Amino acid sequence: MSAVLPATIPTLQITKVKEHIGAIVTGIDLSQPVDAATRKKLYDAVVENVVLVIRGQAHLTPAQLQAGAELFGELMEDQNRRYLVDGHPLISVLDNFHKDSEGKPAKVGTNATWHTDHTNQEMPPKFTMLYAVAVPDKGGATSVCNSRAAYEGLPEDYRRKITDMKTENTLLSSARFKIANPDILRAQLESKKPPTIQPLVRTHPETGTKAVWFHKSKTERVIGMTPEETQDFLQDLTDRITQPQFCYAHEYQKGDLLIIDDRASLHKAGFDFDHSQQRRLYRMLVRGDKPY
Ligand SMILES: [Fe+2]
Repeated sequence: MSAVLPATIPTLQITKVKEHIGAIVTGIDLSQPVDAATRKKLYDAVVENVVLVIRGQAHLTPAQLQAGAELFGELMEDQNRRYLVDGHPLISVLDNFHKDSEGKPAKVGTNATWHTDHTNQEMPPKFTMLYAVAVPDKGGATSVCNSRAAYEGLPEDYRRKITDMKTENTLLSSARFKIANPDILRAQLESKKPPTIQPLVRTHPETGTKAVWFHKSKTERVIGMTPEETQDFLQDLTDRITQPQFCYAHEYQKGDLLIIDDRASLHKAGFDFDHSQQRRLYRMLVRGDKPY
């Protein structure tokens, strides 16, 4: 008779990727109950490292994935609601195999320029979560920039110049009209909503730290600038803050769950992959507060 071996209990490990950004989590199974202490450890790791990658969750059902995501807060609806997981309205789908209404590859939610999510909303998400369902052999990374560390690294006089600036945010800025996805363009043209005023430099409600915080394609203008000046200024600001030491490009493995603290970062999608291969991510957003 063979001895019964004890089941292996995985040990939670959180390993930093770089000094300023990123940590990888192994040794957790989100289909199993997670105790309060572990939950706090994971939450704090997102805030500290700006982006956390929980590996090895490819076995999760959508319901288990959603329950795992809800460990980090209440989920909110994605404003890009064209593609959702059946029966799970809080899980949206980003997939390069989707087509838009003109039959071209849809770019809903796959923004290749640095941004933070949903700045046109009064209360944008605090966390964006991306779960890898299908991944290309290489490329297709999500890049994240710690815009808190980057803000702190700016020269003091420049920091003083930008700290109290305000942005006017719409679904899509007029500067982006020419190259917009037709579905987003239509939504913008039908919208009668006045722009949402947001701080360009946001204070983190949990740590009190400041971070550069904007969505270039949703910024109609920085108050006091024309739309053209605004786009040039934001491009210059992007170049100043997205220095390699503040950024991490995560190339997905199937079953990775990426959690981004949107209040202290910018992110962008990578299109440098073979588009005959599928890149399919599920996105979930955790409800946030009013930025200040
Ligand atoms: Fe995004």
